[in-house]
Amino acid sequence: MKNLLCPSILSADFSILGEQIKEIAANGADYLHIDVMDGMFVPQISFGMPVIKSIRKVTDLFFDVHLMVEKPERYIDDFAGCGADGITIHMEACDDPAAALTKIRKLGLRAGAAISPGTSVERFAEVYDKLDMALVMTVNPGQGGQKYIENSTPRIMQTRKFFEDKGIDMDIQVDGGITRDNIERVIKSGANVIVMGSSVFKGDVGENTRFFAEKMKGL
Ligand code: DX5
Ligand code: ZN
Repeated sequence: MKNLLCPSILSADFSILGEQIKEIAANGADYLHIDVMDGMFVPQISFGMPVIKSIRKVTDLFFDVHLMVEKPERYIDDFAGCGADGITIHMEACDDPAAALTKIRKLGLRAGAAISPGTSVERFAEVYDKLDMALVMTVNPGQGGQKYIENSTPRIMQTRKFFEDKGIDMDIQVDGGITRDNIERVIKSGANVIVMGSSVFKGDVGENTRFFAEKMKGL
């Protein structure tokens, strides 16, 4: 499985967002992780389609859109239309996750399903054959800069084993609290698609991106 680095723009400086996106692209980022929050599924509101449409003009990076949104099926066409390459919905937020994922794939996008820390890994069983990526949240969704929840490590291992037992080489994403100190551990536990907000955007963005891109190549 190829390891993929996904900086999350939630922690970017929005006054120079386009510049920062170019900087992470030039230094080895694989995906651009885009956190959309609706004030319902999570208390916070982040940004939506107009921002995504606008940054689509500055980069060819894969747009990995993480919908922390109630009933995300309402918006799949819209996010596809503004430039998403992959859309991840939350199992907890959807009436019919399988139908939502099927719709994402029908639009030619990669389909992801996320589980929050309090949700059983077994929920992937409902949708395993409709998925291109499984997201195991490693903090409670809602904001950047939180601490990694330690219990996430066995959950990542359990998720990798679940797909391996079915003979599926699934992309397994982790999101929240990933740092220079624990990246090796999450990758060794079975994650290969690594989201990072503050660890990339706090300090020297180019240097941080290069550091993680290099580090992940060796793991
Ligand atoms: C949290 C978001 C994350 C967030 C991660 O709800 O889904 O993508 O940006 O930020 P860090 O890496 O700072 O924990
Ligand atoms: Zn996210």
